Amino acid sequence: MSKPAGLRKGLTQYGDVGFSLFLRKAFIKGAGYTDDALDRPIVGIANTGSGFNPCHGNAPQLIEAVKRGVMLAGGIAIDFPTISVHESFAHPTSMFLRNLMSMDTEEMLRAQPMDAVVLIGGCDKTVPAQLMAAASAGIPAIELVTGPMLNGSHQGTRVGACTDCRRYWASYRADEIDDAEIAQINNQLVGSVGTCCVMGTASTMACISEALGMMLPGGATPPAVTADRARIAERTGTQAVAMIKAGLTPERILTPQAFENALRVLFAIGGSTNGLIHLTAVAGRMGIRVDLAQVDRMSAETPVLLDLKPSGDHYMEDFHKAGGLATVLRELRPFLHLDALTVTGRTLGEELDAAAPAFPQDVVRKLDNPVYAQGGIAVLKGNLAPEGAIIKQSAAAPGLMAHEGRAVVFENSEDLAARLDDPDLDVRADDILVLKHIGPVGGPGMPEAGYIPIPKKLARLGVKDMVRISDGRMSGTAAGTIVLHVTPEAALGGPLAWVRTGDRIKLDVPNRSLSLLVGDEEMAARAAAQPMDRTPDPDARGYRKLYLECVLQADKGCDFDFLQAPHMTRSVPGAS
Ligand code: FES
Ligand code: MG
Repeated sequence: MSKPAGLRKGLTQYGDVGFSLFLRKAFIKGAGYTDDALDRPIVGIANTGSGFNPCHGNAPQLIEAVKRGVMLAGGIAIDFPTISVHESFAHPTSMFLRNLMSMDTEEMLRAQPMDAVVLIGGCDKTVPAQLMAAASAGIPAIELVTGPMLNGSHQGTRVGACTDCRRYWASYRADEIDDAEIAQINNQLVGSVGTCCVMGTASTMACISEALGMMLPGGATPPAVTADRARIAERTGTQAVAMIKAGLTPERILTPQAFENALRVLFAIGGSTNGLIHLTAVAGRMGIRVDLAQVDRMSAETPVLLDLKPSGDHYMEDFHKAGGLATVLRELRPFLHLDALTVTGRTLGEELDAAAPAFPQDVVRKLDNPVYAQGGIAVLKGNLAPEGAIIKQSAAAPGLMAHEGRAVVFENSEDLAARLDDPDLDVRADDILVLKHIGPVGGPGMPEAGYIPIPKKLARLGVKDMVRISDGRMSGTAAGTIVLHVTPEAALGGPLAWVRTGDRIKLDVPNRSLSLLVGDEEMAARAAAQPMDRTPDPDARGYRKLYLECVLQADKGCDFDFLQAPHMTRSVPGAS
């Protein structure tokens, strides 16, 4: 059992140790604390509340509940701000800022005297940023999410961000609904504070945190505005104090087995493709490599069990009422490392044994009656993506999974915006839309623009899906036959850079291949005729400069090279 250091931890250096502590105490007493209050284990609370982040709008209530839990356990809780990143209020992209948030969080965990930390995350990039930070900072850390928003209602139909945002917008683009109706819908999509209520990246990362053992069991699903959510927050505070006493650091929890459990859950919930990038980044902080071939094998043998949008029909509220993640974990038992340790100090298996008993429900399916027989994510390789690409097959059209077509190429996002809806655009429903230069460097920040809208002239004819390929990402709330994360990206001279309109492309998901039907000689000639300028942007400065110089490709989690562990000494094991 390690002894909490409290305010003595990591003293600011003034040379004189006694004076350093004397000063520290004097300043915090300025906030009204007594010596008695300060002579206790200190739990920091990373406060990501922000007026620009409605997904974290309940942060004040959660902080109050966490503080109550900490005090009940005899500790003292001190909240502090960090960067907060919201999907829709982060230019150029939230992904561009994820690593900055992870650096901010990591360094604040190191700099300030806390014996443990409760990380309040929620919106997509915040939880991975916090897990990356916790993995690197090394102090006992426990994740608490803000929880999903409530559903809204449009003409008697439940709606919620943001699968329905896309669905209704596509209808609007196809002239199926008018200006007045789309305005009504806009009022209903986000029913309250909290995170998107489908299996987008926020819900995915909440489930992944619980599966990793970094969150209290049952912590992933309670909606933001419920008493269940507040009680989880209180218990999280109490548990943080227990973790200090037990010396329960992330190093003991974030093992290769824990990452494999998290990957199994990612597949079984039909989780966001972004979850794979984020898990790879968190694992990289621990010196653990996530191999895409293993990912594909695990995905192929792990069925999608959760019937939730966008792969299914329900919303997060329904998942919570159906028993939450334990319901999925119970079904997944044969695939899990049940001896993996969690923040409670007990193993995943022990927690599952202690979970509330199963009851009849229709949100989580049985292993022998899955929503989709394979995991949600398939890994593709081929001459168009030598280092891999992925497709969320559970959200794709079965008829397009093996498809050869003519490429219709857009050079970048601006080109797409300028030409996609042009009535004269030469495009047919069986073509393959290709978008370049939206990768980690090319975006920059790997925008979620991989969900290329169906060209207006085809949308009006009723075309709902086409094969789309890019080096970018897609929101976890989106659906379609969409190939993402093509690596290496176009901006680094990957083969994607040389695709031209009229080329033939063959997508073969069953055989996991993505091929450009153009000969090697021709590709080499194209590359030679139009050399890629890879000199760094001379006008880049500050964080953007750091980002462009150091960001890794999608298969490495898009972390910065210098933030990863210096050596990848372990990898996610296969447990077949
Ligand atoms: Fe914050 Fe979806 S925008 S979780
Ligand atoms: Mg998102």
